[in-house]
Amino acid sequence: MSQRARNVTESGAPGIRHTSSSSGDFATDASIEFRHVGKSMKQGNQIVPVLRDLSGVIPHGCVVTLVGPSGSGKSTLLSLCNLLITPDEGEVYVHGREVREWSIPRLRQTVGLVFQSPAMFPGTVMDNLQYGPQLRGETLGNPKRVLQSVGLAEDMLARDAGELSGGQKQRIALARTLVNNPEVLLLDEVTSALDPSAARDVEEWILKVHEERGTTLLWVTHSLEQARRVGDWTWLLVDGQMAEVAPTEEFFETPKSDVTARFLAGELGGGAS
Ligand SMILES: Nc1ncnc2c1ncn2[C@@H]1O[C@H](COP(=O)(O)OP(=O)(O)OP(=O)(O)O)[C@@H](O)[C@H]1O
Ligand SMILES: [Mg+2]
Repeated sequence: MSQRARNVTESGAPGIRHTSSSSGDFATDASIEFRHVGKSMKQGNQIVPVLRDLSGVIPHGCVVTLVGPSGSGKSTLLSLCNLLITPDEGEVYVHGREVREWSIPRLRQTVGLVFQSPAMFPGTVMDNLQYGPQLRGETLGNPKRVLQSVGLAEDMLARDAGELSGGQKQRIALARTLVNNPEVLLLDEVTSALDPSAARDVEEWILKVHEERGTTLLWVTHSLEQARRVGDWTWLLVDGQMAEVAPTEEFFETPKSDVTARFLAGELGGGAS
């Protein structure tokens, strides 16, 4: 567990001080707070609940690993945090402010989202890295250094981004997000399409960024080994509901709920390795 996260979480699980505000109590140390979130989606002719009365708090600088069976709502939960979709019920707070009160560009700069197999924007690697700064009318300071920091050679800047390997694209996608200096990084299975060695490299590099910048991470993974290795806290989502929230070691060593034990035993699906 990182020191920052430890400081916060030891003040009482989930370690959040609450204070009063005109909109009610909110978690003052929270990067992200979900409050009674509900979301339904149209599937065929039916409207199906995908997230149900879901609440949870992620302290600043904490790494939360989010696990759960396929279809349990993990990606949907991430999408709520930077307004790719909006909740039907409840609220999502980023730094104490409800997401719908943020301007979308500012929110997406603050909360970066990286997917499993990210699409490259048309053009070169340089075009991809410059995308965010350009939107803000800024110039990317030192693109070669950005590339080096993700373990890629600087002569790659002029390459067509579409021609890169999967591992290279994943690094560019992360670098492209990180040049915006997000305070929160939402990671949706970012290493699952990579070979084991590239996956470990990317994982270590993300943790380095977290340590150096104190970036809060909400990290969806199907690898239980990875969830255990990188998490401070682990959340289990089952059928759109929070089945367990626990410090990562406790989650894996002494799960409190039967559902968690069954999930860890592979009985619910979706938790490979
Ligand atoms: N745009 C959409 N329209 C309709 N249903 C959707 C949409 N997006 C997701 N769903 C449904 O919502 C549920 C949760 O999907 P979600 O992608 O959040 O699951 P997940 O936990 O990320 O699964 P996985 O581990 O397979 O990535 C699923 O039943 C899915 O079919
Ligand atoms: Mg998903």
